[in-house]
Amino acid sequence: MAIEWRKSYEIGVEKIDSQHKELFIKINNLLEACSTHKGKEEVLSTIDFLGDYVITHFSDEEKLQKDNEYPDYKDHKSAHERFVKDYEKLKEKLDEEGISLNFVMTVNKVVVDWLVKHIASADRAFGTFLKSKV
Ligand SMILES: [Fe+2]
Ligand SMILES: [Fe+2]
Repeated sequence: MAIEWRKSYEIGVEKIDSQHKELFIKINNLLEACSTHKGKEEVLSTIDFLGDYVITHFSDEEKLQKDNEYPDYKDHKSAHERFVKDYEKLKEKLDEEGISLNFVMTVNKVVVDWLVKHIASADRAFGTFLKSKV
């Protein structure tokens, strides 16, 4: 099931918003690879594409937070780190189980639930902070 970008997710920083939009595209590619049973290799490569992009995005976002002396920087960074750990486990799971129902459910939990909620709440809070600074 594809996820849809909403304007309300925008945090008002162009670079971050366009990276978030790109994340949505990559998440949907992963979901599609899972649902069309394209095989482990294809799913693994969408996991890697999304994973690499997430790492770049997190470091850009954290840099912006640090540069702006964001008070919640530490917590935000820890949340990113927790995600990366959980995300890494997806590969092991795929390796062990293949594209099982349980694997797909975990993808939904880790990627869709976490990342979309994070963008809609934690990242937005940062956007609100930035706006309050100007
Ligand atoms: Fe973000
Ligand atoms: Fe974030």
